[in-house]
Amino acid sequence: MAVETTLVLIKPGGVQRRLIGEITRRIELRGLSVVGLKLISAPRPTVEEHYAEHRERPFFGSVVDYLTSGPIVAMAIQGENAVKAIRATMGATNPVEAGPGTVRGDFALSIDDNLTHSSSDPEAAARELALWFPEGTL
Ligand code: CDP
Ligand code: MG
Repeated sequence: MAVETTLVLIKPGGVQRRLIGEITRRIELRGLSVVGLKLISAPRPTVEEHYAEHRERPFFGSVVDYLTSGPIVAMAIQGENAVKAIRATMGATNPVEAGPGTVRGDFALSIDDNLTHSSSDPEAAARELALWFPEGTL
């Protein structure tokens, strides 16, 4: 079995809608462990580096604006196959394609307000955890 650690961000819309508890509850009930957790105002340069792979995409400016528009929660999540498991729990990027029972399928409708970020693969997870948790995790 592969124990992995991945990054989850609850985006400003999720915090404003008071979904911190609901999203974290689902992660924990899945059997995954929180090994890092903080509520922060994300610095713009950190968000730009986080989404560097999307720098040339038309939505880059708006997604960076969105991530810096209010407090976010950054979480390090650990467990067996955590990267894939978390992506499945969050659902498809576009909430209208996310299945019922997923966070995005249950609580979101719009791709530009899709509540969470989660790392796409183990390499991205390592890079993103170093970016958001330079102090390290448990
Ligand atoms: O977040 P995820 O990895 O599922 O999707 P992504 O393709 O890496 O895109 C990153 C984020 O950019 C998405 O979660 C959306 O918030 C935003 N996005 C957007 O606003 N419009 C798009 N057409 C694609 C992505
Ligand atoms: Mg992505």
